[in-house]
Amino acid sequence: MNILVLGSGGREHTFAWKIAQSSRCGQLFVAPGNSGTDTIATNLNISVTDFEAIKEAVILNKIQLVIVGPEDPLVQGIHDFFLQDQALKNVAVIGPQQAAAELEGSKEFAKKFMMRHNIPTAAYASFTKANVEEGYAFLESLNAPYVLKADGLAAGKGVVILNNLDDAKAELKSMLVDSKFGDASAKVVIEEFLDGIELSCFVLTDGKDYKILPTAKDYKRIGEGDTGLNTGGMGAISPVPFATDKFLQRIENEVVKPTVEGLKKDNLPYVGFIFIGLIKVGDDPKVIEYNVRMGDPETEVVLPRLKTDLVTVFEAMANQTLADIDIEIDARAASTIMLVSGGYPEAYEKGKEIKGIDTVTDSIMFHAGCKNQDGKIVTSGGRVMAITSYGETYKEAIKKSYQSIENLSFDKMNYRKDIGFDL
Ligand code: AMP
Ligand code: GLY
Repeated sequence: MNILVLGSGGREHTFAWKIAQSSRCGQLFVAPGNSGTDTIATNLNISVTDFEAIKEAVILNKIQLVIVGPEDPLVQGIHDFFLQDQALKNVAVIGPQQAAAELEGSKEFAKKFMMRHNIPTAAYASFTKANVEEGYAFLESLNAPYVLKADGLAAGKGVVILNNLDDAKAELKSMLVDSKFGDASAKVVIEEFLDGIELSCFVLTDGKDYKILPTAKDYKRIGEGDTGLNTGGMGAISPVPFATDKFLQRIENEVVKPTVEGLKKDNLPYVGFIFIGLIKVGDDPKVIEYNVRMGDPETEVVLPRLKTDLVTVFEAMANQTLADIDIEIDARAASTIMLVSGGYPEAYEKGKEIKGIDTVTDSIMFHAGCKNQDGKIVTSGGRVMAITSYGETYKEAIKKSYQSIENLSFDKMNYRKDIGFDL
């Protein structure tokens, strides 16, 4: 069958890499893709939110399965668009419909969902410009640190954590009154601060049943020791060493089951990935957020550990027969280290040639912000390439990635040298 992956990051290169290994895959397309997907699939120069252009490409190329990488098209209703179109309604789409995509599209929607279904999460209240004074009073009733979240999508920048009450009030004003994140901060969720260690759990669902994929932990801050600005992710490992069987069982019982049951009870059809951001507070799992897609760079460590044919898994999801298949996981650990452009996540230069790619043999290079320019691979984004390795332990996997990176270079290349430091 012909397959289309939407997106252009390391996550989408990993999807394409795994799909290309399947005997069930006919022609593989990625839109818009990058220099990595270009070597294993046909890149289509189409934006992930240009639904009409996607429709044309799906019909022209007889595509029967579409995997949606990033959240934007899901929150904008790409799955609904397919279902409502006579020519597209039989094309399988991996990713929830718009109503359920609100789990990521609106922090308040997600909080209400968790409260309704008794899913453990931080206490919260939400405010708009109309009751900003109540917001200040609520902040006064809390202890530091203060967690403020723009309700809508803000490209990963919408969560602000502050230690000082006056700063928190100023931030609330900036979000609500001065529209710091535009419409995304027309509503703000203020949350109880949860103190613990984070991990992510990935669930596949066909709307009826679910399968749990390996856990992963990502490193979001730019600086070593988890300091500095937030990024899209500087590295990841899987599995998470502190996620014992007992803790995973609690996550399944207290979070995964009520989430999938909650979707059914609320009549929210869902065929896709549920990415659950968790924090371990003492021995308890608490949900920080839902994403309605896979993580990046978590995909770069989770999918390489999946032994089961991914296209078979997607078909089972689309046909609502997920319960009938087994998901087999590689016992080895995986790590990924993200090479980024100097300056990222702030301003950075592009167009730098990446040298040494042909000499890496022990790791898999998942291209992210890279493009092919006259036969040379050059940087085209902040997060440039994810270097994934396997190991008997996560430490061995990380060591291999760092060894491979010694062969790679580009002008102002940066990466974190301490992935796994806190484990
Ligand atoms: P989110 O976009 O909701 O995942 O939040 C971004 C980051 O903010 C998370 O990865 C956490 O590190 C942190 N965070 C979010 N909510 C809380 C909370 N209630 N308590 C502590 N840290 C949080
Ligand atoms: N790595 C975090 C995310 O994909 O949202």
